[in-house]
Amino acid sequence: NPPSSQMEEVNLLTGSTCRSKGGSSGFKVAVLGAAGGIGQPLAMLLKMNPLVSVLHLYDVVNTPGVTADISHMNTGAVVRGFLGQQQLDSALTGMDLVVIPAGVPRKPGMTRDDLFNINAGIVRTLCEGVAKSCPHAIVNLISNPVNSTVPIAAEVFKKAGTFDPKHLLGVTTLDVVRANTFVAEVLGLDPREVNVPVVGGHAGVTILPLLSQVKPPCSLTSEEISYLTDRIQNGGTEVVEAKAGAGSATLSMAFAAAKFADSCLRGLRGDADVVECSFVASQVTELPFFASKVRLGRNGIEEIYSLGPLSEYERAGLEKAKKELVESIQKGISFIKKIT
Ligand code: NAI
Repeated sequence: NPPSSQMEEVNLLTGSTCRSKGGSSGFKVAVLGAAGGIGQPLAMLLKMNPLVSVLHLYDVVNTPGVTADISHMNTGAVVRGFLGQQQLDSALTGMDLVVIPAGVPRKPGMTRDDLFNINAGIVRTLCEGVAKSCPHAIVNLISNPVNSTVPIAAEVFKKAGTFDPKHLLGVTTLDVVRANTFVAEVLGLDPREVNVPVVGGHAGVTILPLLSQVKPPCSLTSEEISYLTDRIQNGGTEVVEAKAGAGSATLSMAFAAAKFADSCLRGLRGDADVVECSFVASQVTELPFFASKVRLGRNGIEEIYSLGPLSEYERAGLEKAKKELVESIQKGISFIKKIT
């Protein structure tokens, strides 16, 4: 039997169990944008994660309410709320992992790139805070357009002299979550048993599902491949249109972000073989950033895997993806270079 001060908690995302000492062990995690559509359910899922001992919720509005509400859940993590720019430093000090879903979401008819002007400034401010108050933290960046906000974050960190490419990860997990769900639907499998690598970036044609590498191995017809690729690339738009002006994916995104954050924490804890797709500084292609499978460990990204053998369809998709990615990456880099 565990000592009375310890409790065995089940991680609802992974099913694994873990002894937690209710606040005295585990990792410190901050969510920036915690009162938003993604931020709130994400904060709830992180409060349920036994690897989290301290959870800081930061936003420019409404954090006192969200914090009071979540703090009543009888799980181990201690929750503290922070409101407004003047509390950003306190929100970030001592954090091991910073998850950033701050920013405006898409409305029907908008691309992720249309969000650039507002979200670029928000990401810059928040990353300046990270560079100042927790320069060694792992950063999970959710704010769109991820293809540009990750390069923005990298430039901010470089300017501050704190850039560690192993610590900056653009969250593309929702593309993998969708790919697993849609492929399982076509194959009649349990979506939890399907694993589709999704590489490239996180917008339209830059989202490149590698359907030739699906696990368990399967054979899809060319019609199925083209239907699935199109649906995975436009999964976000499917939700934006269904919500008809009320925003973009929030619940599935919170699920995906909580799963990704859990993988980062399991890596930090020293678990073996923790692999996720993520948009990171990379040498897998000639581009400075690219999403592919990465292995997570005590130092953040321990290894970036190459793309493996691609089908002819995927090779053509890769060329299209790279063309768009070059511009989005450059747009992010120029945003910071212009103002310095
Ligand atoms: P939302 O508008 O519901 O929430 C955003 C939150 O950010 C709000 O609470 C707002 O007050 C806060 N915020 C704004 N400026 C801030 C600042 N300077 N500091 C801290 N917080 C600030 O939006 P939602 O739906 O939660 O989406 C958030 C972002 O996530 C959007 O950029 C959206 O495009 C992106 N997203 C990314 C996905 C991905 O797969 N990476 C998927 C879905 C959305």
